Amino acid sequence: MIRALSFMASIGCLLFLVSCQHEELTSQDKELHQLIPNTERYILPDEKNLSEIPQSPSNPLTPEKVALGKLLFFEPVFANESKRQDQRFTFTCASCHVPESGFRPGRMQGIADGGVGFGVKGESRLKYPLYHNDSIDAQGARPLAVLNTAYVENTMWNGSFGSDHHNVGTEALWGVFDPGTAINSLNLGALEGQNIEGLKTHRMNYTKEIIENAGYKEMFDAAFPDMSEEERYSRKGASFAITAYLRQVITNQAPFQKWLKGDKYGMTEQQKKGAVLFFSKAGCNTCHFERNLGSMKFEALGVDDLYEHGGIKTGPADRRNMGRGGFTGRAEDMFKFRTPQLYNLGDSGPYFHGGSMETLEDVVNYFNKGVKQNQRVPDSQLSSFIRPLGLTDEEVADLTEFVKNGLRDPNLIRYKPESVLSGLCFPNNDPASKIDMGCN
Ligand code: HEC
Ligand code: HEC
Repeated sequence: MIRALSFMASIGCLLFLVSCQHEELTSQDKELHQLIPNTERYILPDEKNLSEIPQSPSNPLTPEKVALGKLLFFEPVFANESKRQDQRFTFTCASCHVPESGFRPGRMQGIADGGVGFGVKGESRLKYPLYHNDSIDAQGARPLAVLNTAYVENTMWNGSFGSDHHNVGTEALWGVFDPGTAINSLNLGALEGQNIEGLKTHRMNYTKEIIENAGYKEMFDAAFPDMSEEERYSRKGASFAITAYLRQVITNQAPFQKWLKGDKYGMTEQQKKGAVLFFSKAGCNTCHFERNLGSMKFEALGVDDLYEHGGIKTGPADRRNMGRGGFTGRAEDMFKFRTPQLYNLGDSGPYFHGGSMETLEDVVNYFNKGVKQNQRVPDSQLSSFIRPLGLTDEEVADLTEFVKNGLRDPNLIRYKPESVLSGLCFPNNDPASKIDMGCN
């Protein structure tokens, strides 16, 4: 009703050429506009406008690459290096980056090879009993969402991929603690380099024969006409296609995005109140300030590690627990993690690199309290942000609502293919998952 009235009011404004725009903005809108004078700064591009998306000169975005990558990310037929024969062709990148769970696993830790089952959105995947803890494919950190990754200069919680940007000047340290990483991305983009390595880590391989048999040869040829055949039919070609796909997985339909683009009904009044807090009293934007609402700031928030919250194949000695310091080995980087993007996090908890907070409300309460959780993080390393914020209960609720629903793109399913060329069940293809997903 109010909407209809104000729509008529807008028509009135148009007809009589009176500028009524100012009167229609609520006090929340006005405050938010003052805090974000340049809304352009946070607007994400339409995923179809490939030229507007950040990309690497080594791998210019094309619709052909995106179309191929959209299938490869979900295609179990290349999962051919599993530790056990009976797990071949049963997992994909999307085993741990599930679209329905905001491109995270739907459970605390992701398991690809050595996991069975799916549930509704990945929450019921368990370790396959015939695997040792040490032989499954799982990492000692909560998976990052592969959303808006085009805006990440150096990927991973520790920023270890990409030979440029924040890794310039760290050359002497490359390969010392962590073979690969930055050095793999020399003359490539961070994502291009990482995804070549990721395909090895996640036990997937590509040869001309496998690609041909699975029916993908024409798509590889259309995507990479200028790449040598040797590179095209390999992890490199596959990584370049998957990277092109990931770069356009963008959350541009979130309420906050609509509001930024001028739709003042895009967000609810409560979400606007939360946004005002985000950009002022709560100070979230001092670190979450890039277009994806993450940034390359490495900070120690003093939160627990994954082994303390049920993670397997990890422990106190896991270098991942040291964050940036685990990559560089430098004392000043210890316990500092990259500031992650914030869209669609409400689709699956838990939160932080160690999955130590169950809900987004817990995260906001943690910041509001400002007391470190992890006693191994010395105060000298701890971010100065970890101190009481003084938010009221209502403010905590408003801020939580902004992050949970104001930053939620409700239509991520557009990035999932209807089927893959092999016809196999995806994202998982093990017997238990097939039952869960109704594939039989
Ligand atoms: C077994 C679970 C698992 C599988 C399978 C998996 N990932 Fe991930 N992914 C993770 C975890 C965990 C991280 C964060 C690791 C870290 O930073 O220490 C991550 C991080 C990433 C990132 C970095 C995002 C950022 O913001 O820095 C990208 C890109 C990515 N994965 C792509 C892929 C691709 C492509 C595949 C398939 C080849 C894949 N992943 C398969 C668990 C998984
Ligand atoms: C001092 C920099 C900084 C500030 C200020 C900050 N954050 Fe963060 N934020 C980070 C870092 C770094 C992480 C990852 C830390 C980790 O996991 O060890 C993070 C993680 C998060 C996560 C979890 C993301 C995930 O993938 O699990 C959420 C949600 C979040 N922040 C929201 C907020 C909100 C809301 C505010 C304002 C109250 C805020 N942040 C203020 C740096 C910051």
